[in-house]
Amino acid sequence: MLYCLSIPFIIVAIAAILLKIYIKLTIKWNNCYNCLVGKTALVTGANIGIGYNTALDFAKRGARVILACRNKGRAEDALRRIIKTTGNQNVTYKLVDFTSLQSVRDFAADINKNEERIDILVNNAGIVISNEEYTKDGIQTVLHVNHISPFLLTHLLIDKLKKSAPSRIVNVSSLAAKNAGLSVNSINKINSISKNFLNIAMYNDSKLCNILFTTELAKRLGESTVTVNAVHPGGVRTNILNNTSGFVKDIFSILMKLFFVTSEEGAQTQIYLSVSNDVAHITGGLFEKCKQIDIYQTAQDADLARKVWEKSEELAKLKDSEKISYL
Ligand SMILES: NC(=O)c1ccc[n+]([C@@H]2O[C@H](COP(=O)([O-])OP(=O)(O)OC[C@H]3O[C@@H](n4cnc5c(N)ncnc54)[C@H](OP(=O)(O)O)[C@@H]3O)[C@@H](O)[C@H]2O)c1
Ligand SMILES: *[C@@H]1O[C@H](CO)[C@@H](O)[C@H](O)[C@H]1NC(C)=O
Ligand SMILES: *[C@@H]1O[C@H](CO)[C@@H](O)[C@H](O)[C@H]1NC(C)=O
Ligand SMILES: *[C@@H]1O[C@H](CO)[C@@H](O)[C@H](O)[C@H]1NC(C)=O
Ligand SMILES: *[C@@H]1O[C@H](CO)[C@@H](O)[C@H](O)[C@H]1NC(C)=O
Ligand SMILES: *[C@@H]1O[C@H](CO)[C@@H](O)[C@H](O)[C@H]1NC(C)=O
Repeated sequence: MLYCLSIPFIIVAIAAILLKIYIKLTIKWNNCYNCLVGKTALVTGANIGIGYNTALDFAKRGARVILACRNKGRAEDALRRIIKTTGNQNVTYKLVDFTSLQSVRDFAADINKNEERIDILVNNAGIVISNEEYTKDGIQTVLHVNHISPFLLTHLLIDKLKKSAPSRIVNVSSLAAKNAGLSVNSINKINSISKNFLNIAMYNDSKLCNILFTTELAKRLGESTVTVNAVHPGGVRTNILNNTSGFVKDIFSILMKLFFVTSEEGAQTQIYLSVSNDVAHITGGLFEKCKQIDIYQTAQDADLARKVWEKSEELAKLKDSEKISYL
């Protein structure tokens, strides 16, 4: 009791409260009310967290929304909640597992066959895990889910996106990319240092790949009317740490509870990029708090971007006919 009244404790508590107030006051809400009737939006990892709130917003705007999820029960639950909240019946889900190249191919084939158009693609699904492992395709799991699968998916849907143009691709990256130490040679290697620890190095690298690909794809799409931009959603209170362990998780979990914003707040920048007229002609950019920011130093290396792109083509087992070349 006495301890709680001690001066240092009070100072820390006041500092924490002020920080919390500052964070709440500086949240930037998307203020664009564009309607999306007649448009189709695809959001990966849409059953929960930032992705769910992004899909919910698109449904409110009248879009046809496709929730790309890996678990049937969770997908159905999210679908039910979105339809109930918005009254929009034109929402559906399709199953896809981002730890499998074949699953992404099956999913894309389904979309290409059954959907007339894709106007918005939000590559949102992402994971952090403690245990480093490879998927059955021989790809490091975090890299596979966070980068290679969205890379493959974007390639397989690019014709549909071009046909629906002007269309938009939004890649959910992270501030973590800022400190990534990615090199082409180590891109798919297990990093033994972080074994049984929060696998943050791999996460950082995968999120850097998201930005490298955004800038490289923007180059390859050139003046076409498909734009592609990347987002750092901020520190957001979600389930993303559920599959991690160790003391780094404990620290992040406390920070998350105290200071991270809600998923709805965290979804604002990707919603803004998907719908706002302000950014209709911006491509290859990085955004935070609904504003364009400088591409992180780590992601400015054009040579690295090209090499990582080529390595990703290999890991994703892309056929020559599926590759996106420069215009
Ligand atoms: N939270 C943050 O502070 C923060 C900060 C920067 C960037 N981000 C990025 O924001 C994005 C969304 O994260 P979140 O925080 O909203 O996390 P989340 O609540 O854990 O949601 C992640 C979503 O991805 C899905 N997913 C995971 N593995 C998958 C797989 N193998 N196949 C298909 N879908 C899979 C999850 O499905 P299940 O529900 O079935 O697991 C879930 O829908 C991620 O790209 C993350 O890197 C988050
Ligand atoms: C669903 O949305 C699509 C694309 O926006 C549109 O073409 C279609 O007519 C809509 N269907 C219904 C039943 O509203
Ligand atoms: C992001 O950008 C490029 C181009 O759209 C794509 O190939 C890449 O895999 C995308 N997704 C992510 C999450 O990086
Ligand atoms: C990963 O990124 C975070 C956030 O930018 C940074 O604090 C951390 O040092 C990075 N870790 C590694 C191993 O790259
Ligand atoms: C944790 O990993 C398991 C196995 O991959 C998966 O089934 C579960 O949904 C994951 N949980 C979260 C919150 O990512
Ligand atoms: C993740 O963890 C939180 C808090 O421990 C829990 O409420 C939630 O149900 C978990 N989610 C998943 C998908 O395991």
